[in-house]
Amino acid sequence: MKAVVLDRFGGPEVLRIAQIDRPSLAPGQVVVEVAYASVNPADWKAREGWLARYFQYEFPFVLGFDAAGIVAEVGDGVTRVKPGDRVVTPGNQGMGERGSYAEFVRAAAERVIPLPERVTLRDAATLPTAGMTAWQATLDPRPLGLGSVVVVNGGAGGTGSFAIQLAKMVGARVAATCSPRNFDYVKSLGADHAVDYRAGDVFAALRDWAGGPFDLAVDTVGQGTFVGVLPFMKRGGTVTNIGTLIADEEIINPAAAEAAGVTVIPTVSAFPEQPRQLTALVDALAAGRIHAPEITELPLDQAAEAHRSIQGGHVRGKIVLAVNAGLDA
Ligand SMILES: NC(=O)c1ccc[n+]([C@@H]2O[C@H](COP(=O)([O-])OP(=O)(O)OC[C@H]3O[C@@H](n4cnc5c(N)ncnc54)[C@H](OP(=O)(O)O)[C@@H]3O)[C@@H](O)[C@H]2O)c1
Repeated sequence: MKAVVLDRFGGPEVLRIAQIDRPSLAPGQVVVEVAYASVNPADWKAREGWLARYFQYEFPFVLGFDAAGIVAEVGDGVTRVKPGDRVVTPGNQGMGERGSYAEFVRAAAERVIPLPERVTLRDAATLPTAGMTAWQATLDPRPLGLGSVVVVNGGAGGTGSFAIQLAKMVGARVAATCSPRNFDYVKSLGADHAVDYRAGDVFAALRDWAGGPFDLAVDTVGQGTFVGVLPFMKRGGTVTNIGTLIADEEIINPAAAEAAGVTVIPTVSAFPEQPRQLTALVDALAAGRIHAPEITELPLDQAAEAHRSIQGGHVRGKIVLAVNAGLDA
């Protein structure tokens, strides 16, 4: 099969198109023919070797956590999907297997979620990493009451695009930080207010809009950009900071958080929760309660270009690699 592979860690230039063997089938596993694979910041970090402490890479390695496509084969014991089914999956790359920048990807059956006809494969490919992590950071910590105040740092990115929509879905009031060129975009996702993170006192601007302290702050940017939110949180409020893997980031002082009565939850996508979160995201997308983020589509051959873009840190919505767009017909 055709795939984008890397033979060593390095810059975007290490990505090359190659012919490699299709993934083998095993009991409880599913092989999916990939229509679209989406691109995440974790992909460039994996390309540079940052994830080597989590799993053993075998070169040539294939990146890509997210895939939407058609079930090609199912292993012994798999009953929940069958060949020909349209599906979305976070694949097995997070367990060290080859990922979705390829014509076929393997995934454990419980990680393969069927798609209703009205959900396109292109839209579905945006869901796994960004959507599941946003779900974990926004809806899983504790129920948000109607009118809860939620602030999302980095509202225009992949996780931010979902965090805004998920908070709105449950009736929260939502403000997001982004650059002014993305104000209309975050409002199109449902944000009630947008604040330029480069202009003035961001937290005071958010508080002025909210009219009081915040119930939940979702920080998708990290790098110390949102640690100043603590004094603006409600006692009993929550800050979820999504793990960036960037070393030596300034974090909220745990003693200060405790004194303020604020729970700080360092958030990474949690494997056991992924099937539940992804199923709920598919349902919400199918019901029109959320929409796919803005999509920039590139052909698989332009994976290196996609990496330059995502590594730049200012992609709006999601980049999606078209592997076999014809499957979406
Ligand atoms: N550990 C996990 O399980 C996990 C899972 C998902 C994501 N993550 C991590 O979470 C982070 C975000 O992921 P993502 O997929 O959302 O990334 P992304 O889509 O690449 O985010 C890009 C967005 O970040 C915004 N941005 C950049 N600097 C900003 C700042 N100082 N303030 C506010 N917004 C800013 C940009 O908006 P403007 O162009 O308007 O500046 C852009 O729209 C990454 O570090 C990723 O690795 C971790």
